[in-house]
Amino acid sequence: MAFPITRHRRLRRTAGIRALVRETALGSSDFIYPIFVTHGDNIKEEIPSMPGVYHFSMDRLEAEIRDVVASGVGAVLLFGVPEHKDAVGTSAYDSEGIVQRATRAIKQWAPELVVVADTCLCQFTDHGHCGIVHQDEATGTAVVDNDRSLELLVRTAVSQAEAGADIIAPSNMMDGFVHAIRSGLDEAGYGDIAIMSYSVKYSSAFYGPFRDAAHSAPQFGDRKTYQMDPANVREAVREAESDVAEGADMLMVKPALAYLDVLRMLKEQFDLPVVAYNVSAEYSMVKAAAANGWINEKAIVLETLTGMKRAGADIIITYHAKDAARWLRGEEV
Ligand code: PBG
Repeated sequence: MAFPITRHRRLRRTAGIRALVRETALGSSDFIYPIFVTHGDNIKEEIPSMPGVYHFSMDRLEAEIRDVVASGVGAVLLFGVPEHKDAVGTSAYDSEGIVQRATRAIKQWAPELVVVADTCLCQFTDHGHCGIVHQDEATGTAVVDNDRSLELLVRTAVSQAEAGADIIAPSNMMDGFVHAIRSGLDEAGYGDIAIMSYSVKYSSAFYGPFRDAAHSAPQFGDRKTYQMDPANVREAVREAESDVAEGADMLMVKPALAYLDVLRMLKEQFDLPVVAYNVSAEYSMVKAAAANGWINEKAIVLETLTGMKRAGADIIITYHAKDAARWLRGEEV
């Protein structure tokens, strides 16, 4: 008898057959679209390293929110770019802070749109670190005051919930932040507000364009004393385990592309929804190559996002969200 050659091509022969056997489906309900909000009037300013992504003042935000809803994307992640910065990040937990104001407005314009609030201090501190941090004189490194940072992060989360945020997304990487924020929200009467924890956040060069965009580059040292070493994966399990024990509702891996193995591992080891953050430099690289005509942007983006889903992401935070949602509907953008 002849050697039985498996006819893989039988299942690839037509678009209809390929659709029947496709294992991963990407849809607009998978996406969260990040938005940068700022003070001032009539501002819609493009971020140079992130073409197509803007800073919006409140008066220009409504049109953007309407566009997000029209694209079919159901959730936004808000980042504030404040006027005022100080050592303790005061405007992060001000009820009139930019994220709080934007949240209230979005809930009026589009009550169904899910608002995720980034809970971190780095855009709001003059030193650009994610918590209360001082510089070690001898080595120049950033020394974190974990417990004082937690107090301020809890205040930030509660003020965001008060403003109407549906999901709190702490990205600060302080130890115990999920427990502290969960207790703070519960005590303030926000027991129903979910926490999307940036459980596994690597100290990464892929945040470069975001730091320009959010004016949040550290002014001394770096984030290596609180963000994870890119070489580690077993440590990611420990980070995720503690977040689950502390009450996280969703687990995030960030960045996404260089860390798909980590995403897959969290998916296999935990039963919470897993979130991939397709970060700023991943976006900028695609936009730069596309602008040069070196790649087919639409095909690259859809393939990349499909890869993240296949690796285990239930949710993808991506600056491509609006475009991808429209492409998936067969529209050109
Ligand atoms: C702040 C924060 C960062 C990002 C999201 N929240 C930057 C950082 O940790 O320096 C990066 C997002 C991106 O690159 O798209 N804590």
